[in-house]
Amino acid sequence: MELRLLSLCLVLFVLGYTQCSEAHSMQKRGTDDNSYDDIMGDEAGDDEAQNDADGGYDAEEENSIPATIQTLPTSYNVTVGRTIRLECRVEPADGAVVQWFRNGQHFFMGRLPMIAVGAERFSIADNSNDLLISEVEPSDSGVYKCSLVQVEPVYIEHTLSVQEAPRIESLTANNNGVVMEGSELLLTCKVAGSPPPQIIWSKNSEEGNKRLQEKDANFTLNGVYIRKIKHDQAGKYICYAINSVGHAQSEIFIKVLHKPRVHVPATVINSDVKVEAVIQCYAHGEPAPTITWFKDGIIVDTFSGKYNVNTQGGHSNLTVVPQSDEDFGTFTCEASNGHGSHRASASLVQRPVVASGERDGRKLAWRVHSRRPLRLLHVQVRPLQDPAGEIKEISLPIPQGKGHEYEVIYELKDLEPAEYEVIIKAKNDKDWSDSSEPIIVDYDAQPMSIQHASVLYSGNSQHSIRPAAHILFSTMFMYLLVRMI
Ligand SMILES: *[C@@H]1O[C@H](CO)[C@@H](O)[C@H](O)[C@H]1NC(C)=O
Ligand SMILES: *[C@@H]1O[C@H](CO)[C@@H](O)[C@H](O)[C@H]1NC(C)=O
Ligand SMILES: *[C@@H]1O[C@H](CO)[C@@H](O)[C@H](O)[C@H]1NC(C)=O
Repeated sequence: MELRLLSLCLVLFVLGYTQCSEAHSMQKRGTDDNSYDDIMGDEAGDDEAQNDADGGYDAEEENSIPATIQTLPTSYNVTVGRTIRLECRVEPADGAVVQWFRNGQHFFMGRLPMIAVGAERFSIADNSNDLLISEVEPSDSGVYKCSLVQVEPVYIEHTLSVQEAPRIESLTANNNGVVMEGSELLLTCKVAGSPPPQIIWSKNSEEGNKRLQEKDANFTLNGVYIRKIKHDQAGKYICYAINSVGHAQSEIFIKVLHKPRVHVPATVINSDVKVEAVIQCYAHGEPAPTITWFKDGIIVDTFSGKYNVNTQGGHSNLTVVPQSDEDFGTFTCEASNGHGSHRASASLVQRPVVASGERDGRKLAWRVHSRRPLRLLHVQVRPLQDPAGEIKEISLPIPQGKGHEYEVIYELKDLEPAEYEVIIKAKNDKDWSDSSEPIIVDYDAQPMSIQHASVLYSGNSQHSIRPAAHILFSTMFMYLLVRMI
């Protein structure tokens, strides 16, 4: 049975059935060299006997024992710059001549190189038929064929894949990364590596490092394209190149030129004669805008000694100590750069200012600022669905103030179940405040339970949770992304 399998194998092997060669070499391992020779002899005899029944081949027997390639076809993975030896072991070795081909191109005839260019990196290892390649390059990848020169040629094919960790050759942007708001941005990341690296983009923002999505940009083969860039898309862009060998990254800063925008966080500020007041203004723009302050439409003279303007980056504070009623009024902050200007105003007043309102179930709270003592506090409760409904106006006792700050607390009770809008007004000896922002209360027959209250307490609670989760997710994602592949 063994002999039959072996002879079948030999035939198939010649036809290039590589699986069979595995079986063949297993057979071989099970026998020592002498018995192997015997088998070869017998086998050859068998083979010839079938094809050549006249037996006339005997005279040539010694020369006609076909040599075989013992090495199995192999996939070699090697990183750039290393030396690799592609094996081709022949039995019997004496007198055997081997040719090497790469992707069909003739490489070596015996020890003789057949290639002109780059030949110095290729050689046949001493006392063997193995092909040595030193300082491998990505272009060396391919199919290498070792072919035995004889009447019935046999060959094996090795696959060499040269691997190279990604490299970023360049990361560029149109206009050197300085683009006008509303115009296009094109980022190009040229990468090298083998296997060809995959490219992933991310952008660093206040919320952390976030992978660019289809909604942010159009992706091309090695770039991203944003047709109409917005000013908040300025910042650091990162190109990641990833393949099975490693990863690389590179970053580029993008400036988006745009006209300034200003924001005044407090638009009504309470103060008093001889009490220092600070009016704050935030401005952004690219290039960084210059900030100018106006009082009732007239430019503020910072050298008069009356005003102190302190500007750091896009944040400007105007400090004033009013000396009389005339020093109160409207303060305007204007930011301008070469692309335009923008302004916003704040009123400096002596009347009380209701700063903010909060709700905890049926319990409402406001903070009221007044440098002058409060005289009156009124709360108004109006049914929301019924404009003709009765408006309840209640006078509240003046709470104990902490400095110039008063905390006003009011609890709704004895109302018909309905939705209500609640506002307050405060008066000092100068004037009434503006009405507060209305707070809407759904006055149910059942009072709100406590766990409800904590959710509703601050309108900002949502915002404080979201960005944190975002950062965590995107950081983890980038980490996994880079490690995983
Ligand atoms: C060689 O690399 C290929 C693709 O790069 C991979 O699929 C294969 O598993 C690797 N083989 C070895 C032995 O590492
Ligand atoms: C992507 O390309 C389409 C078609 O050109 C365009 O309408 C769209 O605005 C582009 N999206 C971005 C983010 O640039
Ligand atoms: C402006 O004033 C605020 C509050 O007093 C202070 O926190 C901030 O640092 C000041 N900024 C500048 C630029 O002076």
